Amino acid sequence: MFDRVLISKEEIDKKVKEISAQISKDYEGLNPVFICIMKGSMFFTADLLRYLTIPAQLDFMCVSSYGSSTESSGILKIKTDLASDIEGKHVIIVEDIIDSGNTLYNLKNLLATRNPASVKICAFLDKPDRRLREVAVDYVGYAIPDEFVVGYGLDYNEDFRTLPDVRILSRSVYEK
Ligand code: IMP
Ligand code: MG
Repeated sequence: MFDRVLISKEEIDKKVKEISAQISKDYEGLNPVFICIMKGSMFFTADLLRYLTIPAQLDFMCVSSYGSSTESSGILKIKTDLASDIEGKHVIIVEDIIDSGNTLYNLKNLLATRNPASVKICAFLDKPDRRLREVAVDYVGYAIPDEFVVGYGLDYNEDFRTLPDVRILSRSVYEK
């Protein structure tokens, strides 16, 4: 089922604390609003916000650019929009992983039309080799090789999100 554990629970925890400390420093006095992109980034967002040392707000958005395959369709579908107005706010989009870049490219452009004070991106994982769109990622946990990974919120057809670590899914699972 899995080739191997790519990032352990301990490594995840250490990295999340580092990113949280950096954001706490950068956003001092700005009361940022974190946008958790459901469902993949809910574990990462919860951990990240737990370690903040500054006040912050939280909202959710449910988007998808994936069907049931492992390839991005390039079209952003908004399933659930934000509950709050982000006008004048410092927004940090929190994503599980940036792959082709389609999701974050489209999402960042969409949110920018709502007149926030700023929009930055925080992604736990990055697959730079797969990028089709130029997207500035302001905070990144780990750059990883071009493999399909699951766990720590990341799924394959809704499975494996609850694994505590990040694992490489064997190609035999999805290359049939
Ligand atoms: P992008 O639009 O191609 O950048 O894809 C981003 C989205 O694809 C992420 O939010 C994930 O939901 C999904 N995704 C991309 N790569 C993986 C992976 O290796 N495992 C699980 N989900 C992935
Ligand atoms: Mg996602």
